[in-house]
Amino acid sequence: MALDLGMAQISQMAFGYWQAQTLFAAVRTGVFDALAEGPLTVDKAAAACGLPEDSALRLLDACVALRLLTRSGDGEYANGQHTQRLLVEASAESVTRWVKVMARWYDPWGGITQALQVAEAVEERRLRLGDDEEYAADFILGMHEYNSRSADALAQALPQQGATTMVDVGGGAGTYSIAFCEQWPDLTSEVIDLPAVLPLTSNTVTQAGLESRIQLRAGDYYSDHFGSDVDVVLLSNVLHQESPEAALGILRRARAALSESGRVLVHGHFLEETRTAPLFTTLHNLSALTLWDGGRSYTVAEMTELMRQAGLAHVEVVQAPEPSAKLLVGTADAAHGADRSHERA
Ligand SMILES: C[S@@+](CC[C@H](N)C(=O)[O-])C[C@H]1O[C@@H](n2cnc3c(N)ncnc32)[C@H](O)[C@@H]1O
Repeated sequence: MALDLGMAQISQMAFGYWQAQTLFAAVRTGVFDALAEGPLTVDKAAAACGLPEDSALRLLDACVALRLLTRSGDGEYANGQHTQRLLVEASAESVTRWVKVMARWYDPWGGITQALQVAEAVEERRLRLGDDEEYAADFILGMHEYNSRSADALAQALPQQGATTMVDVGGGAGTYSIAFCEQWPDLTSEVIDLPAVLPLTSNTVTQAGLESRIQLRAGDYYSDHFGSDVDVVLLSNVLHQESPEAALGILRRARAALSESGRVLVHGHFLEETRTAPLFTTLHNLSALTLWDGGRSYTVAEMTELMRQAGLAHVEVVQAPEPSAKLLVGTADAAHGADRSHERA
């Protein structure tokens, strides 16, 4: 008897993590790297991945079913075209670090029921921010792998309007500073992030050949100032990590740093006003609960109100390249003035 649609969808949801875990196991055991140089039989793939042959056979067959691999008539397994491009670590387009971060988040996500009950994050933030060096590198460079695919389009979506200075608060690997410097002539940017992150930023900036235009500053966005007379303060994928109170403090310091015609850019994934769409952001909101104490997804109206309270006016909403993402552009509200009382003495 055919399953009705409702049951089929519930099954797909309930079994969904089997697919995710198969992908994670294949990346973590190096299946796609082992096949990067060419097709292998199961015994050779098993040896290359350090797996018993029976385990390798099950994993490789499931990867064929998931269309990550192909299997030839004589039993050789090969990477699919997109697998070779995206899931081989040495590929220029690799997203394996990002997949490893998603694999890592499986553990805190497993505690979602508890997180909901106690309304507290399951994972300690400090692990991602330097206490676990390998995880921090995967987190920062994984975001770079993911976001650099659309960062140029974001920078293209916004007119330069004569801006020559930018401060990229919580800039991570410098993904958006690089994209904006590549799109906007004469722009220089300062990435502010935690000390453990900046060596990673330094590498990506050097690889992009932009050391002369992108400076790095170790800082804490809860308390440090963001400079003065700045044309653009960028807060990309930062405020969903924070409570409304913390976000307001950060926005106030961003406003205080602006030049007269300066702009604050808030980039991230937003909930529609109904709060029930887009699907990705409703799930991101749960992810924020498990991962970032105080973190949440905001609607555009909620973020606009925080920006207004911080002294920003004329908030314009620009569609970002990712369907669930937006760029909110706030200009300095002269009537409000720059409130510097929140800066550290
Ligand atoms: C989700 S990432 C976003 C990175 C980058 N802006 C992007 O859009 O790709 C958040 C960034 O905030 C940084 N961060 C977290 N807490 C911070 C703090 N207290 N002060 C400065 N940066 C912080 C993290 O190190 C990380 O680079």
